Amino acid sequence: MYRIAPSLLSADFACLGDEVRNVVASGADWIHFDVMDNHYVPNLTIGPLVCEAIRPHTSAPIDVHLMVKPVDRIIPDFAKAGANIITFHPEASEHIDRSLGLIRDSGCQAGLVFNPATPLHHMDHVMDKLDVVLLMSVNPGFGGQKFIPETLNKLRAARDRIDAYAARSGRRILLEIDGGVKTDNIAEIARAGADTFVAGSAVFGAGRDEDPNRYDSIIGALRGELARVAA
Ligand code: DX5
Ligand code: ZN
Repeated sequence: MYRIAPSLLSADFACLGDEVRNVVASGADWIHFDVMDNHYVPNLTIGPLVCEAIRPHTSAPIDVHLMVKPVDRIIPDFAKAGANIITFHPEASEHIDRSLGLIRDSGCQAGLVFNPATPLHHMDHVMDKLDVVLLMSVNPGFGGQKFIPETLNKLRAARDRIDAYAARSGRRILLEIDGGVKTDNIAEIARAGADTFVAGSAVFGAGRDEDPNRYDSIIGALRGELARVAA
């Protein structure tokens, strides 16, 4: 019922294949893949070549979060590189419906990402093309920032829209949260309506040593908090 998606942004970039295998072996459900272009956001990260390079290391879904502008040109490249889910920010596309269609036509699941101040109405007329709604609980660009508490209200509002849509369409849209998710707030975030949790620094910051099971305890702790919500 809940998915945990460690963000590679805080992984060791010198050994990403190992990081991906270890974090999935420790119980990660998705791999969150942050793509930044030093234009839409003030940082520069990884692209389709790196996605292609990690693809053979796991069968877990790769969740590509595009923080790039424009978005359309790069979508087919990520689909070919083995992405399963591709999300983008509405501000970064001139034609949101077209970009969502491009993602789906290339065989991936599609989602919109909402910055902290971006209103939710961008989803209203494209619900049929959404598989995921991702709410940013920090301003995008960097790992290790603090969760913005207003996001809890926004999650409740997004949950209402998604549930109302599910009731009339029978389609389920996932509600993902990204930024500042830790063991001490994940339960509260789940109660506000999130079902999918990106965690970067919380997971990859939790111990870099030679132990291949080094992510077991942090992912176990996150799941333990979620189990209390579900109970
Ligand atoms: C921020 C990225 C996040 C980031 C989260 O722009 O989209 O995915 O890696 O990192 P933490 O969990 O450390 O806030
Ligand atoms: Zn992200």
